[in-house]
Amino acid sequence: MDIININDNSNNLYYIGGIVRDEILGLNSFDIDITYVGNAIEYCSKFGEVIQKNPDFGTVRVNVNGKIVDFASTRSESYPKKGHLPVVEKIGCSLKEDVLRRDFTINALAKNVSTGEIIDYTGGLEDLRNKKLRVLHDESFIDDPTRIIRGLKFSVRFGFDLEEHTKKLQDEYLADINYDMSYKRLKKELIETFNLNSQKAFEKFINEKIYKLVTPKDVELPKVNIEELVNKYVLSSGKFNNFQFCIWLVYVGVLGDLCRLPLTKTEQKILDDVPKFEPETDFEIYKMFENIHIESILLYAILKNERIARHYLDNLRQIKTETNGNDLKNLGIPPSPKYQEIFNEILKEKLKNPNMTKKNEIDFLRLKFNV
Ligand code: CTP
Repeated sequence: MDIININDNSNNLYYIGGIVRDEILGLNSFDIDITYVGNAIEYCSKFGEVIQKNPDFGTVRVNVNGKIVDFASTRSESYPKKGHLPVVEKIGCSLKEDVLRRDFTINALAKNVSTGEIIDYTGGLEDLRNKKLRVLHDESFIDDPTRIIRGLKFSVRFGFDLEEHTKKLQDEYLADINYDMSYKRLKKELIETFNLNSQKAFEKFINEKIYKLVTPKDVELPKVNIEELVNKYVLSSGKFNNFQFCIWLVYVGVLGDLCRLPLTKTEQKILDDVPKFEPETDFEIYKMFENIHIESILLYAILKNERIARHYLDNLRQIKTETNGNDLKNLGIPPSPKYQEIFNEILKEKLKNPNMTKKNEIDFLRLKFNV
């Protein structure tokens, strides 16, 4: 764990949530969440310069010896509108009340910043040992259904299972979903879960009917292994050197109906661009996929025709014609819509004979178009 050098005389500062869980599991944590039992804005401003504060939530961002640290006040919450953001009931409540508002016991552990003592009010340590995800109370999924996706995410990330009663609560919720919920939060969790690129997560998502949170329609598990597709054609293809593609959308797009999720224009386009028909010739296949995102091609493989999509990705997509407009001009062909027709003819030929050089292309078009 990243140690913050704070001289806390109060003994009331605690690392809390994911960071404590990850340290016990021997994993790196990206966020450092620290909670003060009481009013953090008043107390933590003693450590350094306050950069930002939010009195409604009792949170404060402080520069501690050059390091930016976020502190929260202990707070209790309630869910007057189930499925939506909770409202803060009390800032500066006890540590116990603060941890009881959380999702799973493994996320409800606290560690005293000064003494290192672990505070475990809910049995989180035992659940960590037994690799179990357990909610803290029976209303947990009703209050916040995104926790069902969080459970899926943690089950994949850590190899944990839902404890029996928690699984029963999940099944009960999924059999009677309140679709009036915050889909912005649900989307965030879907992204974090499916960007892990796990076929196992997807199988749970479909088989345990977790997908019903997104759509009430019935969906079956596709035969295609999505993890393998994404690995082969995106992650290890060497063709993409950044993480700008939406792996999660290849998984969740399988549901077809994503109208509840707030999608960006690009995400919507990826879904709209998935071709609907089955081309026959290589030329038709090439043209169908040429200008669409890789995610749309993978969704086509999953939903429509795996063989055609793989044929394009394995054999056709790297074929590029080299003749350009200038070459045609130099051959004395005046610019006109006929150029496109000529390029198409060269492409058709090159798809049959990918080793054609630029000279071969020009020889071919000379013969074909008599120039
Ligand atoms: N939390 C919760 N219910 C949610 C989201 C978060 O109870 N729907 C609580 C959990 O106690 C969690 C903490 O808020 O540990 C911080 O949330 P977040 O940063 O999303 O999760 P982490 O557990 O820190 O996990 P990650 O490693 O994915 O950041």
